[in-house]
Amino acid sequence: MNKIRLAVLISGRGSNMESLLRACAAPDFPAEVAVVVANRPDAAGLAKARDYGIPTDIVDHKQYAGRPAFEAALQQTLSRHAPLDLICLAGFMRVLTADFVNQWPGRMINIHPSLLPEYKGLDTHARALADGKVETGCTVHYVIPAMDEGPVIVQRRVPILPDDSADTLAARVLLEEHQAYPAAVRIVAARLQELGDA
Ligand code: GRF
Repeated sequence: MNKIRLAVLISGRGSNMESLLRACAAPDFPAEVAVVVANRPDAAGLAKARDYGIPTDIVDHKQYAGRPAFEAALQQTLSRHAPLDLICLAGFMRVLTADFVNQWPGRMINIHPSLLPEYKGLDTHARALADGKVETGCTVHYVIPAMDEGPVIVQRRVPILPDDSADTLAARVLLEEHQAYPAAVRIVAARLQELGDA
C-alpha cells in the first residue's frame, strides 16, 4: 500500500509535528511527510523538521496584504509538493477561510487541546481549570469552515489533578496529543486508501 503524503502546517514549537515525523519514520506507518510549512519564519519547528531531512517552506502571513493573498501563496506552496493527500494543522495559529478549507474536503485535519466541542478557541486549559473540571483531553478532527468544529477522528482523555496549573495540565495533555495525532493519521490514511483516494 502506498503511503499517503502529508503537509504539516505549523506556527511555533512543532512538538505535534515532531510526533508525526517520528511516527512516519516507522516502515509500517501509512504516511510520509512531504513538506512542513510555517507561517512564521521563526517557528522553532522548522529546524526540527530539517533535522529529520524534511523539506520546509515559509509563507509569512505578514508579507501579504490580506487573508486571500496569504492563502493563495500557501496553496501555491503546497502545490509545489503535490501530490498531497492530507494537510495536518499542528499548532497552526492562522484562521483559514472557507474558500481555502473547501479546497481540501476531507483532507485537512487539526489537533486541539480539549475534548471538543468543549473549549473551542484559546486558553483551553485555564478555562477547564476555572470551571472546576476533573477531566479534559485532546481532539483530532477534520477541518470544516468553522473554527474547532468538524467530525472527530480521535479523542484522548486526561485527568485534571487538584494542584494542576494551566502549565502542568498543558504538559499532561500534550503527551496525549503526541499519541493522538499519529493515531488519527493512521485512521484517515486507512479511509483514504479504502476509497482508493490515496
Ligand atoms: C498544541 O497544544 C495543539 O493542540 C494546539 O497548539 C499546540 C501546538 O503545540 N493547537 P506544538 O507546536 O505542536 O508543540
